[in-house]
Amino acid sequence: MKSYKIYIDGQWIESMNKEQITVTNPATGEVVGYVPKVGETETKKAIDAANNAFKSWSTTTASERANYLWKLYHLLLENKEDIARTMTMEQGKPLQEAIGEVMYAAGFVQWYAEEARRVYGETIPASKENKRIRVLKQAVGVVAAITPWNFPAAMITRKLAPALAAGCTMVIKPASQTPITAIKIMDLCEKAGFPKGVVNLVTGNANEIGKTIMSDFRVRKLTFTGSTEVGKILMGQAGETVKRISLELGGHAPFIAFEDADLDKAVTGALASKLRNCGQVCVASNRFYIQESIVDKFIEKIKSKLADYRVGNGLEEGVNLGPLIDESVYNKVEKHIEDAVNKGAKIEFGGKGSKAEGNTPGHFLQPTLLSNVTEDMLIMKEETFGPVIPVLSFKSEEEVIERANNTNYGLAAYFYTESLARSIRVSEALDYGIVGVNDGSPSTPEAPFGGFKESGLGREGGHHGIEGFLETKYVSVQI
Ligand code: SIN
Repeated sequence: MKSYKIYIDGQWIESMNKEQITVTNPATGEVVGYVPKVGETETKKAIDAANNAFKSWSTTTASERANYLWKLYHLLLENKEDIARTMTMEQGKPLQEAIGEVMYAAGFVQWYAEEARRVYGETIPASKENKRIRVLKQAVGVVAAITPWNFPAAMITRKLAPALAAGCTMVIKPASQTPITAIKIMDLCEKAGFPKGVVNLVTGNANEIGKTIMSDFRVRKLTFTGSTEVGKILMGQAGETVKRISLELGGHAPFIAFEDADLDKAVTGALASKLRNCGQVCVASNRFYIQESIVDKFIEKIKSKLADYRVGNGLEEGVNLGPLIDESVYNKVEKHIEDAVNKGAKIEFGGKGSKAEGNTPGHFLQPTLLSNVTEDMLIMKEETFGPVIPVLSFKSEEEVIERANNTNYGLAAYFYTESLARSIRVSEALDYGIVGVNDGSPSTPEAPFGGFKESGLGREGGHHGIEGFLETKYVSVQI
């Protein structure tokens, strides 16, 4: 099985202590490869390299930076099958979904190759005749990116592309469950010809790498996607050196179907928003509020569609629901189901899993539909990160908006209605950064992804996404 290397200052290197992380396939338990388990020493070297490269990279022209990104975009498309296969092997999502993610990842590179050339300053009319005020946008400096296992490619490019477009240099730390996809993206960065030190990648001890990044003054910005719990710790640590931070954290998305919805579209949207990546998505719908006159029909329709899902190894033909990433995720999902059932929920579909034990590989769980759900259940309070659909009913628009907003999370919300007036009213009333109106798949590189409340800070994607990698400077000139 292949041993991979980390990428620092344009060189592929092994860890100094020769320790490695074993990357396993969550569907089969087989070893996919080994990556270096590095800590403080290598992370400091990566920061040195990014810091040394910053001066020349940040003063290249926007069109030069755009050209490198265009090369990377084309290389991602040319290598999409290989990266997707690696992703399925280390992350578990079905191959077609993994190919979709590589395209999504490439989309960010394409968007910021275009956006690099649209970073504009301003001229502000001064209050004195002999003065001129110019506002400049300049790269923030060295950026550290800590990325999650659920989208091993897209969560890297969503950070890397705007950072590099803005003129920043980077140190990337991918999740230990899915580092090989990240290493393959680094390989393409090398092939795209980015100068040495502009992008660097370390794998290994999350705690040690995180502490090294957070305490180093030269890292001027941290961009993180992961849990709210870890995000809060990083936010505290960022205060030490007043780093800029962007945080894409947890969600607990409400999905609402009003009685004036097109029910078939609502069912399709519910499944798209819930079962992508087996529910291991921050923007996944987590609680389903269905207006009482249509709740029975909704449950019947969802049930009949769930029968079409085939759970298994994502490399097998016809499988459209992969495994959960590991035991801790599986246990949490199982706990949510058990707690709901103990408090009176009814399992309408699924509910059965096969947890990896001994020689039985994979943490697989059938898609699960629950009715008779009540607000006191754990599943209504926490992010589940699994393929469970808890259904509740509601009477009025006012009531459901209040229930939907009654959470510390504020990432994504979805609702279905055929009423234009209601679509405007409800989208304005929901306290969420992303609202899908008759749309179960709103994520796209052109739009500003991010959350309200404890779901995060800052936005990624769209023209907004580059802002977090830019400083604003004003120059007052007396003539
Ligand atoms: C996430 O789960 O954090 C990302 C999902 C997306 O980009 O749609």
